[in-house]
Amino acid sequence: MAALAGMEEEAEAPSAELDAEAAGLDDPDEPPPPLELDDLAVGSDENAELLNGSSMYFEKGGGIPVDPVVTNLSEDLGDMRDLDFKEPLRSNGSNGRLLSLSPSLSGGGGSMQMFDSGGEDAGSCRKRKNRVLLPLEVGTKLTCRWRDDKYHPVTIIERKKVNDEYHYYVHYSEFNRRLDEWVKLDQLNLDATEADAVEKVEDKGLKMTRHQKRKIDETHVEEGHEDFDAASLREHEEITKVKNIGKIELGRYEIDTWYFSPFPPEYSDCNKLFFCEFCLAFVKRKEQLQRHMRKCDLKHPPGDEIYRNGSLSMFEVDGRKNKVYSQNLCYLAKLFLDHKTLYYDVDLFLFYILCECDDRGCHMVGYFSKEKHSEEGYNLACILTLPPYQRKGYGKFLIAFSYELSKKETKVGTPERPLSDLGLLSYRGYWTRVLLDILKKHRGNVSIKELTDMTAIRSEDVINTLQQLELIQYRKGQYVICADPKLLDRHLKAAGRSGLEVDPSKLIWTPYKEQEDGSLMKTYSSKKAAHKASGV
Ligand code: ACO
Ligand code: ZN
Repeated sequence: MAALAGMEEEAEAPSAELDAEAAGLDDPDEPPPPLELDDLAVGSDENAELLNGSSMYFEKGGGIPVDPVVTNLSEDLGDMRDLDFKEPLRSNGSNGRLLSLSPSLSGGGGSMQMFDSGGEDAGSCRKRKNRVLLPLEVGTKLTCRWRDDKYHPVTIIERKKVNDEYHYYVHYSEFNRRLDEWVKLDQLNLDATEADAVEKVEDKGLKMTRHQKRKIDETHVEEGHEDFDAASLREHEEITKVKNIGKIELGRYEIDTWYFSPFPPEYSDCNKLFFCEFCLAFVKRKEQLQRHMRKCDLKHPPGDEIYRNGSLSMFEVDGRKNKVYSQNLCYLAKLFLDHKTLYYDVDLFLFYILCECDDRGCHMVGYFSKEKHSEEGYNLACILTLPPYQRKGYGKFLIAFSYELSKKETKVGTPERPLSDLGLLSYRGYWTRVLLDILKKHRGNVSIKELTDMTAIRSEDVINTLQQLELIQYRKGQYVICADPKLLDRHLKAAGRSGLEVDPSKLIWTPYKEQEDGSLMKTYSSKKAAHKASGV
């Protein structure tokens, strides 16, 4: 293997040659070959715009919406999760959701009618005269007053009659689908024609390509669905277009859901589901949950506790051994994961459940799943931090944990694609921080392969990240890593907090081993080695 990148901490920006072979690159005499970066394409302007345009964030704390058209991911993304859950139900309730809409005016729905709107346009203050047929048709594009009291372009996805009044399920073209919601007629600006709505997207500075616009217009789908073909995308969209469960109660929290989840049909008529926070059984009524809680003797997830550090524990749950728990977890997780198909065959997966433990038990904070055997080299299938716990570093902890497992397996790994917007942000942040930390400390040359060996991060993700950071350049026929310490520091600062650390010495785990007959077994019973689940 040829030589490699010098990472000495020198005052001058030291450039070192990067092992082109190790980086999976071809003859360096050729003009710069495209650093074939995987399906993330994180650097492209196109993607960045989509990401910005489709996610909605709020400033922390106040719950006051900021302008949804965010132009700088690292600087401007606030925190929208604050809006998605109530603080402990035991509190006095003053921390209610901030979803309140203005009081309903008369719906005007019910029978078919022509709405003759004239005069002042509430959204744009332009005079116009439009004739709108009520009730509004599915597919109609207009603008809708949102939580920031501004009008945003929407498409009507569905409508329903509630007490003689039509309610409309709308998708905001500028935001991620998790912000789709039911609204009443008085929130809709009937003066905003279809053309106005499209115009507004452009006004907002969302410089979208025609392709992106078509994507939003036709399928109202954003990032994370690139791997779907058009037919499956339409099918996915049709089935999942309206959230079926509005909120859930889980432990101390009531949480607004984000997406559709295919709960059995008998649960389709209830807006709220009640989950047992330990066994994840779900029921339709609070009294049923209370009855269940009196009988349920679990105080932590089933399976083996494979990590404990202070009040944090990780449990490994085998989908084959704990089928019902694993299926319930999948139903629950799908409420917050848009682009994942629900696997009914949980046998093939292991689930790693992160818990915060106290004297009442081990409370699930988040989890990730992992195939027992992945042809594609995935070390993580789905990852979720429950909304009340988001933006506290648990996501980075879960990601780091997945790589610690890969290290124990002496494999490199990568998360299953496609990544969601939040998944991409979290992974990008994790990769950046891990690689920069090494580059900062490392003395002497280092190859992509060595970086991969040290971190268990797949080489494409290493290259991709370094290229994003503009740390790889093509000079005189060769790729070099430019590791200017000042630049590294700047990037590290921008990479944000490091999150909760995983202490590898606290991980008691052995990898699964494939048997000759294709079945998977632990090399020895993890039960013997692992802490016995504490049962606090
Ligand atoms: N706004 C802006 N940046 C965000 C946000 C947000 N709402 N959420 C995460 N980030 C970025 C930030 O850079 C953050 O670091 P910082 O807080 O230091 O700035 C970083 O991601 C990770 O933050 P964590 O607190 O460590 O992660 P969190 O516990 O919030 O979990 C996760 C991240 C798992 C992606 C969570 O957002 C989630 O569960 N989302 C819903 C499900 C999902 O999309 N999962 C990924 C699907 S892809 C897959 O499964 C392979
Ligand atoms: Zn239970």
